[in-house]
Amino acid sequence: MRQLILFGLGLVLSVSSIFVYAQSDAEPLTLRELADENGIFIGAAVQSGLLENEPDYANTVSREFNLITTEWETKMCVTQPTPDTFDFEGTDAMLEFAEANDMALRGHTLLWHQCFPEWLENGDYSREEAIEILKNYIDTVVGRYKGRIAIWDVVNEGVDDSGRMRQTQWKSLIGDDYIELAFRFAHEADPDAMLFYNDYSTETMNRKSDSVYELVSALLENDVPIDGVGLQMHIMVGDARPNRSIDPDELRENIERLGELGLQVQITEMDVRHSGLPTASILERQAEDYRQVVEVCLQTEACNAIIFWGFTDLHSWIPEFFGNADAAPLLFDRNYQPKPAYEEVQQALQNALTAES
Ligand code: XIL
Repeated sequence: MRQLILFGLGLVLSVSSIFVYAQSDAEPLTLRELADENGIFIGAAVQSGLLENEPDYANTVSREFNLITTEWETKMCVTQPTPDTFDFEGTDAMLEFAEANDMALRGHTLLWHQCFPEWLENGDYSREEAIEILKNYIDTVVGRYKGRIAIWDVVNEGVDDSGRMRQTQWKSLIGDDYIELAFRFAHEADPDAMLFYNDYSTETMNRKSDSVYELVSALLENDVPIDGVGLQMHIMVGDARPNRSIDPDELRENIERLGELGLQVQITEMDVRHSGLPTASILERQAEDYRQVVEVCLQTEACNAIIFWGFTDLHSWIPEFFGNADAAPLLFDRNYQPKPAYEEVQQALQNALTAES
């Protein structure tokens, strides 16, 4: 009973301090401080080289986030470039940064049809040999970071845009059970790591998200050790096409049905792109999209992380990948200044605390 009273007192003091602190003209709370108070992860995909060489980049990351994701460092073409060599330099550096700044590190991604090593793509392996390669790869990578990388994307984008299982290289080498095997090997390598299936255009209620729901339901029915689903959330301002500008009610419905399976849900790669120039109107609508997604995550029990795919427009994959050099998809501009999107995310996190108090 004493502990309960002390805990309650602590909670009241911390929330009231947030409320009072936020009411004064002191510095507004950072996203990290607000996320910590809300009990969720808030993070960004980052690059080890930029963490090491750009102080503004590193300082913004440690100030604003409590989690970082390996944007590139733990993809197989990087970690196992040849059958007999592994490269962990970038991941080691990122883990050092994360641990020095009391942040979680999210490993992205063990299996993916892109960044697939040429030696494996061009090799001639039997199913049994491919399974052995998969097990050795996962044992080596996940085993190296056992107890230190808290969350892994085990399989990324295993469902294609039509909702069928994607014809990935691993599927060709091993067969349909490659996903199950990957999760089992990852769990054996680190029983405490949270293991996720991750995909894009699966945020709202549609044929593809239905297929992901069926996939993870079947994995759970076979006692496959899967802990969660990552919704990438690469969306576009005001595009009428489905899954480009988010429908918050469908997002909520999708998160809730995954939660009812006992799974965690994480927004894993959010950015909000646009066509043309980032006009004031575009930035305002972009901010609205960010606010809506953060609000839905905070309001749904199963959602415990909001992670952006980068955080400054200076370093985003969007301009090159989508061919818009003027694209400004993230929370900070190219000079590391917060944009309306940052302010809306900050306000949504603050509102959730105020509503609780
Ligand atoms: C992207 C990186 O950000 C780029 O630098 C790289 O050229 C291609 O891959 N979904 C994913 C991520 O799961 O791994 C992708 O990352 C972006 C789309």
